[in-house]
This record gives sequence, C-alpha cells and structure tokens, in this order.
Amino acid sequence: AVGLSSAAGAQTYPSRPITMVVPFTAGGPTDTVARLIAESMSRTLGQQVLVENVGGAGGTRGAGQVAKAAPDGYTLLLHHIGQATSATLYRKLPYKPGSDFEEVGLVTAVPMTIIGKTGFEPKTYKELVDYVKANKDKVTYGNAGVGSASHLCGMLFMSKVGTPMTTVPYPGTGPAMNDLVGGQIDLLCDQTTNTTGQIKGGKVKPYAVTTKDRVKSLPDIPTTTEGGLPVEVAVWHGIYAPKGTPKDVVEKINKALDAALDDPKVIARMADLGTEPEPKDRRSPAVHEKFLQDQIAQWKPIIESAGVFAD
Ligand code: MLT
Repeated sequence: AVGLSSAAGAQTYPSRPITMVVPFTAGGPTDTVARLIAESMSRTLGQQVLVENVGGAGGTRGAGQVAKAAPDGYTLLLHHIGQATSATLYRKLPYKPGSDFEEVGLVTAVPMTIIGKTGFEPKTYKELVDYVKANKDKVTYGNAGVGSASHLCGMLFMSKVGTPMTTVPYPGTGPAMNDLVGGQIDLLCDQTTNTTGQIKGGKVKPYAVTTKDRVKSLPDIPTTTEGGLPVEVAVWHGIYAPKGTPKDVVEKINKALDAALDDPKVIARMADLGTEPEPKDRRSPAVHEKFLQDQIAQWKPIIESAGVFAD
C-alpha cells in the first residue's frame, strides 16, 4: 500500500498470490522447473505462486513483461541462460537483461540432449554430424526462437559442423517436441527436463548429451565430446524480480527458493529429470547477479562470431 516503508512491506509480504512468469509455453522444460519449485515456495511463503506462461520471441516477450511490472514482489520471472544470450542476440530489446532486474537466486543447471525423430537415418552422433554435412539445409531443426536454449545449442552445433540447417521456430520446446515425436521435424536440442520421458519411452532417438560427463539418469547416452564434436552447454535457470523490488522482499523470495531446493521431493524429481538443485553456496542473490554478468560477457564473443542477431 502507498506510504508503507519497505520494511513494513516485507513484514506483510506476501499478502496475495504471486505470479511467476515463464517466458515459454506450458508443458516445456522451463515450465516444468517453475512448477516444481512453485509448489514448495507457495508452502513457505503462505501464498500461491502461480505460474503464467508468456511464450514468444525466444523468451524476450515474457522477460520484457516482467521488466516493466510493478517492483513489489508480486510479479517474478523464471528465466534461463537466454537472459544472458539475449543481451547480445537482440539489437533492439526494449529492456536490459543485465540491469532491469533484481536477481533473486539460481535454481538449477539443466543438461541438454541432441535428439532426432525415431525414423531419422543417422544412428550415432558421429553419423549425425556426417549426415548434416551431406544434407545441409534439408535437415530441419526445431527451436524455441532466438534467445532460447534450443537455439543456442543449435547455433553451437551448426557452427562446429560448419553447415546451416533449416530452423523451425516455436514459442517453446513443448510444441517442438510434439512435432519431433510426430516426425514433422528431424532434430531438436532440448533440456533433459523435457526430453527424459520421451527418450525413455522410445519416442525420440537420442544422440548425445551436452555435458562434460554423462548424465546419471541417462547413462547410455554418450557426451558430444565422446562423439567427436564437443557442444557443451548447461541451461542454468534463475528467478528475477523487476528492478527496484525491495531488498527484504527479494530476501524473502530467496529463502523460499532455498527451502524449495532443499525439499527432498524437489531433489528427487529433479534427479529423475536429469538435473539437480544449485549447490547451497550458489543460491544467493549476489552470486546470481555476478553469474549473470559473467555469462553475458562469456557468450557475447561466441554469438558475435556466429553472427546471428535479431531485432
Ligand atoms: C522451454 O521451456 O520451452 C524452453 O526452455 C525453450 C528453450 O529455451 O529451448
């Protein structure tokens, strides 16, 4: 209410439900992470944390909406590595990913998997690389738009192979996965939070994981390095509040996040999906803030040398 000091604000916060915007479609990997922690955070905060999906423009539509929301702790953003890459990928973003938010805390870093439709010809990752070289833009590759993790992975893969593929954009990898399972597209690089079930159910063909080591829950899938063409990326996620959200409110949300990441049910579900909570010493707002800046700096030259930009 008008006139309350921020201390009084934190004492009464939250007094109504909180909206957590996911900048991709429902049922996809980021949505899965959000719903996983939202339930536990709701219990700690004593108010519902409601997930709202605002997909489109590779995550920048939803992020932009939260950047402009009231800085009162009632509108949050759950975003991933795209918060760092979009800073360079977009020439005319109506907000600044690196300075228009209060970082609340890191959540999890999710491995990716390079997968194909079940009938796709190449049998191994090595064969896939040769196949893409030979067939070039005849190969169709789904992603969640410029700024998405699936876009980043595809960009790294294509620049290593040295061959473009035909990109088919979606507002999230949820619908991209449907088309891959249906055989409408050939390839996808997507997070284990979305691909584990389909891989284990035999609905897609797995080629490689994008981590240094194999993923515990998918022990039979080789790494891209084992396959001879390293593509390494982990999709770290974090929670954001609009710039100017009171520090003590941010702290309260951070504590609820911390408790969610200690919740045995959350840990077990994440393990099933090939990931794990950020370690305790990486969960503070300060670590998140520094990490985002480092990530923006790390990806900038890679994106610039790949030469992909959007308006
Ligand atoms: C999603 O939730 O749809 C994904 O995180 C999209 C992506 O970044 O590839």
